[in-house]
Amino acid sequence: MSTWANLNLQDSASPLMEQLIFFHDHALLILVMITVLVGYLMFMLFFNSYVNRFLLHGQLIEMIWTILPAIILLFIAFPSLRLLYLLDEINEPSVTLKTIGHQWYWSYEYSDFNNIEFDSYMIPSNELATDGFRLLDVDNRIILPMNSQIRILVTAADVIHSWTIPALGVKVDGTPGRLNQTNFFINRPGLFFGQCSEICGANHSFMPIVIESVPVNYFIKWISSN
Ligand code: CUA
Repeated sequence: MSTWANLNLQDSASPLMEQLIFFHDHALLILVMITVLVGYLMFMLFFNSYVNRFLLHGQLIEMIWTILPAIILLFIAFPSLRLLYLLDEINEPSVTLKTIGHQWYWSYEYSDFNNIEFDSYMIPSNELATDGFRLLDVDNRIILPMNSQIRILVTAADVIHSWTIPALGVKVDGTPGRLNQTNFFINRPGLFFGQCSEICGANHSFMPIVIESVPVNYFIKWISSN
């Protein structure tokens, strides 16, 4: 989870988020190089007193500074497309979780297992345990097995919500009348927090998501005890 003064991306807990971070760093590097070069050129203009009264056009330099940025953009476009298709790929999921956004809570359905379903509300600050996470903890956590492909189906019952877990690289809109799909793979045990990220009304900030990632045998124990 994110803690105080953490301005960077959270540590990844899934292969897709790892790829997203690599792409972010790659794009940022290109951005910094362009900014430094253009910044240097513009700064140096302040100290340039040369004037060429006969320079009206230059075909060669125009060609260079049109084509060069286009080529540089390709180095961002192709990795970006690769990631886009990678994120869209569904790799034979072993568990499917359906999540429904409501004003203002999430409800979950494990449809492959005897139709287990429950609502998940944020724990209000005045009811929080001393070791609870303020504004992030919920009364009923999602339990999911680690090291398995997980498919999530996202929809909403009233307005648009967005099911977003930064550490897993997942962000899917829940839209009334539509069923969206994505998948992820959690590669370690632990708690993973997320929040709704579509402005869905007065309590938009108070419908967090908590995933409890556990080893597969613990997940089977939990699912069969329900
Ligand atoms: Cu639900 Cu914002």
